[in-house]
Amino acid sequence: MKKLIIINGPNLNLLGTREPEIYGSLSFTEFLDELRAKYFDMSIDYFQSNIEGELIDKIQEAGFSYDGIILNAAAYTHTSVGIGDAVKAVESPVIEVHISNTFAREDFRHQSFISPNAKGVILGFGLQSYELAIQSFI
Ligand code: DQA
Repeated sequence: MKKLIIINGPNLNLLGTREPEIYGSLSFTEFLDELRAKYFDMSIDYFQSNIEGELIDKIQEAGFSYDGIILNAAAYTHTSVGIGDAVKAVESPVIEVHISNTFAREDFRHQSFISPNAKGVILGFGLQSYELAIQSFI
């Protein structure tokens, strides 16, 4: 059984209520239940934190034992050298995902410290971005 983990960064705990016109109205836990039911032959763990260092700790911890990490570092994508370095340091492939098309938004969202070290990047498909990332491991 493939072992994946979804790691979500700051403010993604508010999915469902946060700017629903951009991020949709489904909470991440509701969506995760659907994903786990659909991809029952994969183990899909989940971690969310609003704290940069906790995200780095989790990437380090998961990065040598999981088959893949699906990472939405949210706002830290655009600012965090530390998270970018953590992605580079681990063995597990990291897929960078974003719900929104960050290139269609403000200029500061066009920069990513994750992308150069990610296996691939999927963005702009709403929550389906996560599902497409899971499918890349099939
Ligand atoms: C996001 C895009 C980021 O720019 C933003 O800060 C987020 C969410 C996305 O999934 O679209 O919090 O990562």
